[in-house]
Amino acid sequence: MAKFFEEPSRTFSEYLLIPGYTGPDCTPDKVSLKTPLVKFKKGEEPALSLNIPMVSAVMQAVSGEEMACALAREGGVSFIYGSQTIESQAAMVRKVKSTKAGFVGSDSNISPEATLEDVIALRKETGHSTMAVTDNGQADGKLVGIVTSRDYRESRMDHSIQVKEFMTPFDKLIVGNEDITLSDANDLIWEHKLNQLPIVDKEQHLKAFVFRKDYESHKDNPNELLDENKRYIVGAGINTRDYATRVPALVEAGVDVLCIDSSEGYSAWQAETIKWIREHYGDRVKVGAGNVVDGDGFRFLADAGADFIKIGIGGGSICITREQKGIGRGQATATIDVAKARDAYFEETGVYIPICSDGGIVHDYHITLALAFGADFVMLGRYFARFKEAPNKIVSVNGNYMKEYWGEGSARARNWQRYDVGGDKKMSFVEGVDSYVPYAGSLRDNVGLSLSKIRHTMCNCGCLTIPELQRDAKVTLVSSTSIVEGGAHDVVVRDEHFDAKPQ
Ligand code: IMP
Repeated sequence: MAKFFEEPSRTFSEYLLIPGYTGPDCTPDKVSLKTPLVKFKKGEEPALSLNIPMVSAVMQAVSGEEMACALAREGGVSFIYGSQTIESQAAMVRKVKSTKAGFVGSDSNISPEATLEDVIALRKETGHSTMAVTDNGQADGKLVGIVTSRDYRESRMDHSIQVKEFMTPFDKLIVGNEDITLSDANDLIWEHKLNQLPIVDKEQHLKAFVFRKDYESHKDNPNELLDENKRYIVGAGINTRDYATRVPALVEAGVDVLCIDSSEGYSAWQAETIKWIREHYGDRVKVGAGNVVDGDGFRFLADAGADFIKIGIGGGSICITREQKGIGRGQATATIDVAKARDAYFEETGVYIPICSDGGIVHDYHITLALAFGADFVMLGRYFARFKEAPNKIVSVNGNYMKEYWGEGSARARNWQRYDVGGDKKMSFVEGVDSYVPYAGSLRDNVGLSLSKIRHTMCNCGCLTIPELQRDAKVTLVSSTSIVEGGAHDVVVRDEHFDAKPQ
């Protein structure tokens, strides 16, 4: 006979947290949201941690290079979508790794023989006003000068004038040598009141730039997530088909962490993918796996060597997997069950494998609940798709600004690898929809507000860290009638259509 689970499967909205004692030192400014991203042995530190417990979904409509930089700046990680060519995904990773932070590879390069017209065109193309003038016009050429917007007046000068006529030449530049530390580079910038410092090798070949604005942005972003070279941490999605070519390209591009992106991860293909990575890279390349919804699935991927494990089938906002195939589990129950298996695995082996609750987060408090249930971080799609930094288009729908948001299993994304169960390579039916979500502005503002709510709730529960919340949270189920009590009720809520007249 089939195995029947005793508990019905439940979603986040069916639970609430019961406050614990809040002492005088338990204040939101003291809450740490630092959390492990990859597995570690008892008593050791994880090789990678997040400063906030949020990662963005492996989706075309969500995780491109701009999202990755914006989220890393706040302390989280994006997983650049894998449903694109290997070359374009690797190029996105490379872009993120060269955007920041400290030493930045030059993506605006021009030769001394080019014209002002070319400079204007290049500025439009890259959005950057600082250009390296190199003998061959390439990023690795010999530096002969730089051009910034201070060097020319677009409306007053003849556009056919050559760059060498108006650039700031090398002998007038302050430059750093390639062994300089970031802190010494920043000192030079301050001493000489520079906006940028070119870094060159002994033969005067350009290596990088250090920008003043990066130093200032770092001061504003105390949580930003950087590697040892001060570059943003970035992840990327892979599939169980083309990993032998995709993984090397992503590693070469500098990716920090991979994630096998699949709607259902309890499969031989995931184990094979991890095995291949271990054979070729040992533990140097970190890879998460999933998605699973019970302890058996967790144990399988843990034994296969996953660095983190993702939970969730059918709970995503754009997901119709449950309707189409009748598989899945309520996200809250799935998270609770997998967390139990993770704790048992830790007890048994001394290895802690972080788990990620993926999909179905609708309210900010759902994040806090997922953490209280044992998740170490959450993955969100709809949430991030609403922001300016997502790679999806902004459109007007009935006069309202919206962003397009489509599932990876929709006819639009056609990401068949995600739903691959071997055999036929075609997608014969869809598992996701194409939709709109209300435009919500910048990531920074929204994430700031969500984190503030999480910190306040944690203080209500008497917890200053995520492990404390996982250990000490008190959770209750809610009845359907008490859910009504949770929103505004028995009042007429005022809004812009409310036309009250004084009596
Ligand atoms: P959301 O945060 O509720 O929008 O859920 C995002 C999650 O839904 C992703 O991280 C994926 O796990 C999952 N997902 C993405 N595309 C699809 C799809 O087309 N069908 C089913 N699930 C999807």
